[in-house]
Amino acid sequence: MNASKYLPITLLKGHTVFVTGGGSGINLGIAKSFASVGADIAICGRTAERLESAAAELRHMGARVSTSVADVRDYAAVETALAKSREELGAVHTMVCGAAGNFVARAEAISAKGFRTVVEIDLLGAFHGAHAAFEQLKETRGNLIFVSAGQAYLPFAFQAHVGAAKAGIDNLMRNLALEWGRHGIRSNSIVPGPIEGTEGMKRLGGAAGEDTWKRMVPLGRYGTVDDIGGMAVVLASPLGAYVTGAQIVVDGGIGLQGSGLFNQAMEQAMPASP
Ligand code: COA
Repeated sequence: MNASKYLPITLLKGHTVFVTGGGSGINLGIAKSFASVGADIAICGRTAERLESAAAELRHMGARVSTSVADVRDYAAVETALAKSREELGAVHTMVCGAAGNFVARAEAISAKGFRTVVEIDLLGAFHGAHAAFEQLKETRGNLIFVSAGQAYLPFAFQAHVGAAKAGIDNLMRNLALEWGRHGIRSNSIVPGPIEGTEGMKRLGGAAGEDTWKRMVPLGRYGTVDDIGGMAVVLASPLGAYVTGAQIVVDGGIGLQGSGLFNQAMEQAMPASP
């Protein structure tokens, strides 16, 4: 499934989308969904090679592409990347704050630096992206899409740092919807479920095991990056024109089950507390 299979390939022609962490995983999937309906794409990330290979795929789909090596923890780098993308592609219409970091660890085994690192990448990085894009979004009456996670509203064992960061992102998302609506800027988040083939699933999925995940999802399958990208396109397009301040759950229903099965499987897979 790709957005262009169901939506006109010109739906977002002339629309510029900036995706943080867009070199791989769910974020690259989102970028590709936008490219499939005509948008131009800017991506930033930490690794030049990864960005270049992603850019080649996006160009192959017909998008004009801007790349910047920028760590979302560095506000000046994000600002510079947005200025470059503006110069190359025009003002941004959709800002996707997707860059994230994760590891699985017992709360007592997370150092202060480890906790701070994830909060800095996820939450501070999301604020940096939104704040640096504000003037451009005001001009285009554009929108923000944050990539949240189930950990934002449900505690998952060994994810204390991620839960804190993602809950912060969703609250930031609502706050910006409230404050920036007067500028015509919409702000929403997407909560992905377990998405196959992503770095996040490698980190979380491996230990819990494939069977556990599939039993937890009412729809009985992993999600795909296109499942997430399609929703991002709908949200950013005129189809989502009256949606703001919403946490859109795209998880095959896993959030309805609680995190119990995951917690039990992980407890068995994790090394004991020191
Ligand atoms: N358990 C406990 N602590 C861990 C850890 C683990 N598995 N992995 C990293 N940390 C800690 C480190 O020990 C370090 O703290 P310390 O110096 O007090 O020991 C701290 O986290 C920072 O680690 P470092 O590797 O220096 O940070 P980084 O900026 O290079 O990497 C991460 C950030 C840790 C989030 C890394 O996993 C990453 O780059 N992830 C990006 C990709 C990703 O996670 N994708 C999935 C998104 S869902």
